[in-house]
Amino acid sequence: MTRKIIIDTDPGQDDAIAILLALASPELEVIGITTVAGNVPLNLTTKNALKILEVANKTEIPVFAGCDAPLKRKLVTAEHVHGATGLNGIALPEPKIAAQDQHGVDFIIQVLRENEAGTITLCPLGPLTNIASAMQQAPEIISKIKEIILMGGAYFEVGNITPAAEFNIYVDPEAADIVMRSGVKITMIPLDVTHQVLTTNKRISRLKNLGNKTGEIVASWVDFFERFDEEKYGSDGAPLHDPCVIAYLIKPELFWGRQINVQIETQSELTRGMSVADYWGVTDKQECPRNVKFLRNANANGFYELLFERLKKLP
Ligand code: RIB
Ligand code: CA
Repeated sequence: MTRKIIIDTDPGQDDAIAILLALASPELEVIGITTVAGNVPLNLTTKNALKILEVANKTEIPVFAGCDAPLKRKLVTAEHVHGATGLNGIALPEPKIAAQDQHGVDFIIQVLRENEAGTITLCPLGPLTNIASAMQQAPEIISKIKEIILMGGAYFEVGNITPAAEFNIYVDPEAADIVMRSGVKITMIPLDVTHQVLTTNKRISRLKNLGNKTGEIVASWVDFFERFDEEKYGSDGAPLHDPCVIAYLIKPELFWGRQINVQIETQSELTRGMSVADYWGVTDKQECPRNVKFLRNANANGFYELLFERLKKLP
């Protein structure tokens, strides 16, 4: 039985690889892609989503532009990581296809209203502005969401945009707070996991030798964005953040963690966007429900074997 998903995204090279992995996986039915401002402004994340569908030759999948700014804060972007276009690497042609007229938030609400409860999974790969806006505008859809698998947060790995916070949560902490408190079944894939799946040179050469255009394009994206992380962490390669969300949906056994309480800091400027994860269960269960499955480890080799096997199926 295929699982129906909506990918909510701010492409971003790692978002792009996540989308390609989903499009190459028969277990998943991508019913739409909603874009959000994050790595780069909304006009660019939306254009990038269209380009990615053209790379995969899956132009029938609809793209809906969502929110162009966080709920309450000024947008913070990450061109320093992803480049001015947000998808620096091999230059891709201007997309021939266009986004739908409907707003991304309205699309999410409509899909949840029209489908049976427990059949739609949301896969946010960027700031949670669209997801939180849908919950605020149409609270009745919250109980209909099957689950949310999101890339975001950090605890033992600490922050990547500030010492305390991971980028997706940092950009819109109020949105993340709404989602964490929603009562929806949530699996969080934090930097603690994504920093275990590094694009080592060996893995990049596997991508380059996949034997298709997709492999070349993906390798060029990784070549571009890994330089930032290698400089910062002195690591052999960069963390492939967002594809972990899709890999988890396909092969959950590649990841493991525990059900804990996670709360988002929204008041302090110093620790804005910090995902406070009670990994050792020191808070009172009454006050602090175990609202999130917080993943902490990944089988990196298994993840990359899955990625190579699936990307090979694309053009
Ligand atoms: O912190 C990593 C996350 O921020 C990833 O989703 C990346 O694409 C950026 O959005
Ligand atoms: Ca992202």
